[in-house]
Amino acid sequence: MALPEVRIGIVGYGMMGRAHSYAYTAAPVMRPLPVRPRLAVISGRDEGKVARAASAYGFESWTADWRELVQRRDVDIVDICTPPGTHTEIAAAAAANGKAVICEKPLAVSYAQALSAMESARRANVLNAVGFNYRRLPAVSLMKRMVDEGAVGKVRLWRGVWLSDEFVDPGIPFDWRFDRTIGGSTIADLGSHLIDMALWMVGDVAEVSAQSGTFVTERSNASGGRPVPVTVDDASSALLRFQGGARGVVEMARVAVRRPCDFTIEVNGDRGTLVFEYARLNELLYGDGGDSPGLYGMRRIRAEHETHPYARHWWPVGQGVGYGASFINHLGDLLERWPDGPWEPDFAQGAAVQAVCEAIERAASGRRWVAVDEVTSTLS
Ligand SMILES: NC(=O)c1ccc[n+]([C@@H]2O[C@H](COP(=O)([O-])OP(=O)(O)OC[C@H]3O[C@@H](n4cnc5c(N)ncnc54)[C@H](O)[C@@H]3O)[C@@H](O)[C@H]2O)c1
Repeated sequence: MALPEVRIGIVGYGMMGRAHSYAYTAAPVMRPLPVRPRLAVISGRDEGKVARAASAYGFESWTADWRELVQRRDVDIVDICTPPGTHTEIAAAAAANGKAVICEKPLAVSYAQALSAMESARRANVLNAVGFNYRRLPAVSLMKRMVDEGAVGKVRLWRGVWLSDEFVDPGIPFDWRFDRTIGGSTIADLGSHLIDMALWMVGDVAEVSAQSGTFVTERSNASGGRPVPVTVDDASSALLRFQGGARGVVEMARVAVRRPCDFTIEVNGDRGTLVFEYARLNELLYGDGGDSPGLYGMRRIRAEHETHPYARHWWPVGQGVGYGASFINHLGDLLERWPDGPWEPDFAQGAAVQAVCEAIERAASGRRWVAVDEVTSTLS
């Protein structure tokens, strides 16, 4: 029997437009779904490029105007893959047209914007989700499950470090990533993933302190003319106090030479330790305080056993998965719950992450501890 269709419109054909298109195409190949995603339309500002992307990614049509895309009758889900400063306006327009909305992270460039995206979706009563795909790496999902099941005992410390060399070269011309109003910040770009995983595993953050630095303060203008001031942080780090009493540290940097998108997260509880390193993304290190002293150290778990999260939808144990699998798992989970939901992480969770990002930014600029409530209470 033919499955019902769900029709997808993707806004943005860059790296994430490609990743999401790939995931919609591959998800039904990897796992049984109640619906068949149909790539209806993709949009982008450059007609030639969006036409080529539509053909390469398998879309039926394209448009150079996202406003047309969000109004089309043959679109059920609007999937936003554009820079962060554009998300809120597109999400609000999609929701107002009755579309379900999937939005890449970070949800917005400020807590106020994130809240307004959340309210737009609530008002329209449409499903909504944020692209925190790293939750869906099998080993990260297993880490969360083990924390919930008490494998480390009561969580005392949570640590997340994300290093990349994306901004190292001062010769890279100015683009949206260096512009606070459209790119957000390194805190929100890399840190939003870390903070999402921290909130998911440990619970709400009560307060933060932080520092930030911008080492390359202006960049050349790609269209000629004077150099343009950089308005985002190159690197930031923060101390977190969780409401439940645990302490945390996060560091995010785009100026770490020879570190290509390396992230590490670690949980230390009163009975054990769990460590995930992105470079070995099918594995977890687990130190069990109850082990015999003769086994002192950590065991390496292959997060691919059929009892592990997502593994039964993937290759036989030992074959491993990669970055692309996180998108297939994420969008597959959303499609599995179409059309009733619930979807998660949703815009409310995206806004909660944004509040912590904003608290970190305020703490760094004001050189003080900032309660997350200080950010949320003025607007809620
Ligand atoms: N989840 C992840 O692993 C992950 C990885 C990379 C990026 N992202 C997020 O995805 C979003 C898109 O990032 P990307 O890497 O695909 O970007 P990209 O530069 O590769 O593509 C951006 C797309 O948005 C369009 N666009 C619309 N308005 C624009 C504007 N004002 N300025 C520039 N481009 C504009 C571009 O034409 C292009 O199609 C961002 O929010 C980013 O943080 C997520």
